[in-house]
Amino acid sequence: METVTVGLGERAYDILIGNSTLPDLGTRCKALGLGTRVAIVTNPTVGAHYLAPTRNALADAGFDVSVCELPDGERYKNTDSINTIYDHLVDRRLDRGSFLVALGGGVIGDMTGFAAATFLRGIPFVQVPTTVVAQVDSSVGGKTGVNHPRGKNLIGAFHQPRLVLMDLDMLGTLPHRELLAGIAEVVKYGVIEDADFFDFLNANAKPLLALEPGVTARVVRRCCELKAQVVADDERETSGRRAILNYGHTVGHAIEAVTGYKEYLHGEAVGLGMVAAARIAHRLGRLAEAESEAQRALLERFGLPTEIPQHLDRAAIADAMGLDKKVASGKIRLILADRIGHVEMVPFSADEVRTLVKDL
Ligand SMILES: NC(=O)c1ccc[n+]([C@@H]2O[C@H](COP(=O)([O-])OP(=O)(O)OC[C@H]3O[C@@H](n4cnc5c(N)ncnc54)[C@H](O)[C@@H]3O)[C@@H](O)[C@H]2O)c1
Ligand SMILES: [Zn+2]
Repeated sequence: METVTVGLGERAYDILIGNSTLPDLGTRCKALGLGTRVAIVTNPTVGAHYLAPTRNALADAGFDVSVCELPDGERYKNTDSINTIYDHLVDRRLDRGSFLVALGGGVIGDMTGFAAATFLRGIPFVQVPTTVVAQVDSSVGGKTGVNHPRGKNLIGAFHQPRLVLMDLDMLGTLPHRELLAGIAEVVKYGVIEDADFFDFLNANAKPLLALEPGVTARVVRRCCELKAQVVADDERETSGRRAILNYGHTVGHAIEAVTGYKEYLHGEAVGLGMVAAARIAHRLGRLAEAESEAQRALLERFGLPTEIPQHLDRAAIADAMGLDKKVASGKIRLILADRIGHVEMVPFSADEVRTLVKDL
């Protein structure tokens, strides 16, 4: 088992990464001095595979365990589900000394974190992320929340977990398409911060797709190290540093929006967004063509879509980009690479964006 620490002073916490780590969950929580009552929040899909061992790991360490099951799906990432969690916590009389365990992907993690941030003005929580997206991204960094009918993740809070325990074996039951979509976020880390890691992914695409343990552990660990560093530098996204994690996301979110969140998984849309950002950077003379093409080629190797279908209206994509959360004072800020391993935030007017997106 490997440990990555998120260096946030009194809110610092460990990310534990390895195979067959789940049985250690209870003793690790005990070592942190977490209170006796714990509620596991999960959904039926994940629960069918991992609820029993999670519950046992906690019970064996002496915790009083209850389970709050929510329906599976992004469409349930809303305040109704948060109320379901609150009702469970009130019924079971969880108090300030209690804690929550998020057992699932990013949807469960974001909602459990938000319930923990707000119940009794804040109780501790632990992340047990079960998807690639959750292991390399959403479980680390303390962004929690739910969707509003008019926009994704509009309601939320910063609340850091006390521990993140990743069991890489859990990725083995993930639907193949979810695995690939998560890998798009993995490729993102190489482009924004680490050219050597990008090369490593190129050289190890096959073993990663096969979830070979050594390669998988190295990949998840490196993503967590990179995210932990960015979060430690800019916990609440005030300096702009954390915004680099949005590479590929401005176009990606716009593609998700214009396709009604139905055609693409988030990671797939982000992959398309990265290809778009690379082409835009090349067109502007900021990035060599070979480095733009290398991004597309690596995503393709991982079986991800790399062309925005012609039937998707470019003007609609440009308009949706103007609605993205990353818009500051009328300017649309794109994260663009000047080489693989380094990105910058560049502001554009809405007109400039329309022109750039037209030819994608
Ligand atoms: N907080 C953050 O910083 C952050 C970052 C990135 C994404 N997110 C959020 O994360 C969410 C997406 O997360 P996701 O991609 O993990 O989706 P998800 O949580 O919906 O999980 C995808 C699907 O896989 C199933 N599943 C999960 N683990 C499984 C396993 N081990 N075996 C079999 N099936 C499994 C889930 O039940 C679900 O059906 C979005 O809501 C997004 O906004 C948050
Ligand atoms: Zn993302």
